[in-house]
Amino acid sequence: MSTRRFFLQSAALCGLLLSAKSRRSSGFDKLTVNRGAATVHPLATQSAARILRSGGNAIDAAISAALVLGVVDGHNSGIGGGCLVLIRRSNGQIHAIDGREMAGLAASEGMFLRGGKADASLSQNGPLACGVPSQIAAIKQMHTLAGRMAWKDLFTDAQKAAFNGVAASKSVARTIASEADELRKYPASSAIYFHTDGTAIREGEPLVQKDLASTLESIALQGSEWFYEGPFASKCAGYLKSIGGILTREDFLAYRSKERTAIRTKYRDHEVIGFPPPSSGGIHIAQMLMMLEPYPIGAWMRSRPEAYYHLLCEVMKRAFADRAYWLGDSDFVDVPQGLLDREYSRNRMANFVDSQSSMQIEHGTPGDSMGRNGALGAPSSAEDLKHTTHLTTADDEGNWVAMTCTVNTSWGCKVTVPGTGVMLNNQMDDFSISPGTPNAFGLVGSQANAVGPGKRPLSSMSPTMVLDATGEPVLTAGAAGGPRIINATLQVLLRVLDGGCSVSEAVACPRVHHQWQPDVLLFEDQFGVGTPWEISPGIQANLSRLGHPLKASGSLAICQAIHRQGDRLTAAHDPRAQGQSLAE
Ligand code: GLY
Repeated sequence: MSTRRFFLQSAALCGLLLSAKSRRSSGFDKLTVNRGAATVHPLATQSAARILRSGGNAIDAAISAALVLGVVDGHNSGIGGGCLVLIRRSNGQIHAIDGREMAGLAASEGMFLRGGKADASLSQNGPLACGVPSQIAAIKQMHTLAGRMAWKDLFTDAQKAAFNGVAASKSVARTIASEADELRKYPASSAIYFHTDGTAIREGEPLVQKDLASTLESIALQGSEWFYEGPFASKCAGYLKSIGGILTREDFLAYRSKERTAIRTKYRDHEVIGFPPPSSGGIHIAQMLMMLEPYPIGAWMRSRPEAYYHLLCEVMKRAFADRAYWLGDSDFVDVPQGLLDREYSRNRMANFVDSQSSMQIEHGTPGDSMGRNGALGAPSSAEDLKHTTHLTTADDEGNWVAMTCTVNTSWGCKVTVPGTGVMLNNQMDDFSISPGTPNAFGLVGSQANAVGPGKRPLSSMSPTMVLDATGEPVLTAGAAGGPRIINATLQVLLRVLDGGCSVSEAVACPRVHHQWQPDVLLFEDQFGVGTPWEISPGIQANLSRLGHPLKASGSLAICQAIHRQGDRLTAAHDPRAQGQSLAE
């Protein structure tokens, strides 16, 4: 194998970094720092850096990094899953590319009911749990829109990593062990993630994926058609049928990534760009920012942290109550435009009191339902629960990409399509499989997010960008972690825009999370200890006194971000994971 070649490959990539540094110090590079990348894995970040240095732009770099992540961090994302992508092009145009998985045409509202009861094991594991994989369609659309390098060259690093093998990361090894029983049910998954004696691959051991390398090569050489119209679609549909699944070749043929209209909201002196349905992230970040705007957030962060966290918790509850009731795929249900109305958001806070947690929060009643397809999100004219991954890239022409990719929970539905190395997603669990039944993240939903043929499940993925008063990008952020994505992204924005934190500090700061139901305020007690941002026992006691049911948590979400100050970019990866960020 493989191990030796892998280390040679890593060394080669590291060499690129070193040589970039020496070029800079010799004055070869520009003095400005205006290219950046951040991901949860050094090989993915280095792949983005290599692309940026060899003539590719931020779009090319994001595609290459996403493909590498699918190989080296496959429990979180991969070509068997999907993604949501926000692109800001150097000409100022914003593009929101919806690469969300789609339910098969044979899907139905009752498909996860057994004996009249919802059976979440069917939406979380096995052949019924997957929607049509959509990442390849989305990256194809990104590339067609604004890529510069040849399509096939964007697959090189991922192919090499799969063929040569990579050392299994701590989280890869941990999640293989935690999902071992389900993974072992599928021979092609078993063959990749377990030794021939049946023991799981451990941290640092080589993870070799020759079938996946060959699949990537086929897509690189024959295009996305190979995946959606050709051998992959046939093989995947045939195998799923043989084990009780419902996706068909026609579902693959019908799949299209879609360009949607991004959500644009003013927050103080900035414009915040968010992702529309089928994401809930853009709407609820905008809504929460509008609820927060009247308050002196920056001052409270520093001098009245319990007031800051109390307020955050209250806006989170109100936003997630609306999410549970109103949000779904806007190609199928009416998502009210009024959710983004400033007055509506302020009215939602009418019953906020600064001395007590609100006990009875229900969804609000926004106006201006725009109807299907005309509503929000309609296609535009033109270690725990930290699943999913967010990556970000920027180039020296002013192209920026925020891209969140996922197979949903760790290793998706655990089914690998034999002979392809492709692990399929379990995104069907992001539907509300029955009203009131919580999904893997404890989220409940309504009819708006019920399963339907050809429908896309609601997502929390929140690729976000912030523009300054002149329309230039200053900040981009996004996260992994199910519904915690929305609140984590919000808190990174607030730390930079209101708190004046550096982006690295903002990403590292401890965070809180409330999702309305269950009524629990999660807080990170292991991060920021000894810094001004620590959620100290004193702050905890004050929040308890206000009536918040507190629960200490490990890492809640993993964020990556890029910040521009003048001509200098700073990229930041979350210290909660073992990623890497580069700016030069
Ligand atoms: N699968 C996680 C999300 O899209 O929210």
